[in-house]
Amino acid sequence: ATQRVHSIATIGADGIGPEVVDAGVQVLRQLAKLDGTFGLEFKDYDWSSETYKKTGKYIPDGGLDDLKKHDAILFGAVGAPDVPDHISLWGLRLAICQPFQQFANVRPTKIFRGTESPLRKANHGDLDWLIIRENSEGEYAGQGGRSHRGQPWEVATEVSIFTRHAVERLIRFAFETARTRPRKFLTVVTKSNAQRNGMVLWDEVATEVAEEFPDVKWDKMLVDAMTCRMVLDPKSLDTIVATNLHADILSDLAAALAGSIGIAPTSNLDPTRKNPSMFEPIHGSAFDITGKGVANPVATFWTASEMLIWLGEEEAAKKLMESVEAVTEQGVRTRDLGGNAGTKQVTDAVCAELEKTY
Ligand code: NAI
Ligand code: MG
Repeated sequence: ATQRVHSIATIGADGIGPEVVDAGVQVLRQLAKLDGTFGLEFKDYDWSSETYKKTGKYIPDGGLDDLKKHDAILFGAVGAPDVPDHISLWGLRLAICQPFQQFANVRPTKIFRGTESPLRKANHGDLDWLIIRENSEGEYAGQGGRSHRGQPWEVATEVSIFTRHAVERLIRFAFETARTRPRKFLTVVTKSNAQRNGMVLWDEVATEVAEEFPDVKWDKMLVDAMTCRMVLDPKSLDTIVATNLHADILSDLAAALAGSIGIAPTSNLDPTRKNPSMFEPIHGSAFDITGKGVANPVATFWTASEMLIWLGEEEAAKKLMESVEAVTEQGVRTRDLGGNAGTKQVTDAVCAELEKTY
């Protein structure tokens, strides 16, 4: 029988990025070996802030063409103490997301078995969200400029761009995604009281697109009130869609409410599948813990599981998540989750658990 083989590009990049991507690759190799019905091929790309400091470029000439040949990209994190964050972010991560039109950024959050939410009344099962973030324009469109640098009369503009094309494709994707979840419930987040142009467009497009999805219930929230609802009534939410900036902030809050930024994944999807999609943990390069062997690899394991679902390997993805949750439940946890295990111990424990599952 011919085996399905998926070609994965790995870009660990900076800080703990390479540590958690290595852990992810170890677990994925084990999973593919045990499963036997599919194969994974990895090619590592050594693009990072180190490369940038040496060559002036994060991505070498022709790099995106190489990347395009893969079925998916597993990314670590970019950001170094001696490179301004807007240079690293635009130089590597956005330099992939934007040309590859990965317009939907998908961020699931839940409370794992054996972990605790900082919310006193929230337990496993009470918080199970999927945040969908606009990933191609909005507040991060890169429009604006600075004049009179350094003068007392300096001005800077940061212009948000909202196009009907991008808002509509994202909101349709959000309704489609909400439909695949048991609750079939979508919350559309805007700030259409204060931002009366772009955000009103969002509300209008949501109302139009909602008519195509009579089986999906939906409601609207202003982003400020949304933060309260997330904290006070987490059970009342399921799928959530918001702009690039708003969802960026809400998803960090979501990760913290679920227990740690060290567990949450992100998918940067091109739903048209013309380009490879990119999968990464939500967290950054965490210089404070780099090289200490204590980074939580769970966010990358969940990321790997999301990647497998996108590649059509749902069964294996499910087994991976079951194994990860069994390991957190056994108490093999890194410091951010209140444990004392290191990256390697957690990774080995997940590999051992997978062995039991198959
Ligand atoms: P961060 O996510 O790197 O760290 C925030 C805090 O969470 C730190 O205390 C860190 O030790 C902890 N933490 C993060 N991931 C962890 C893990 N896997 N296990 C245990 N603890 C973990 O965010 P920060 O400090 O704001 O940014 C550091 C650098 O990362 C900056 O250069 C920033 O621009 C970059 N960054 C990159 C992102 C990306 O590549 N997508 C996303 C967020 C930040
Ligand atoms: Mg963020």
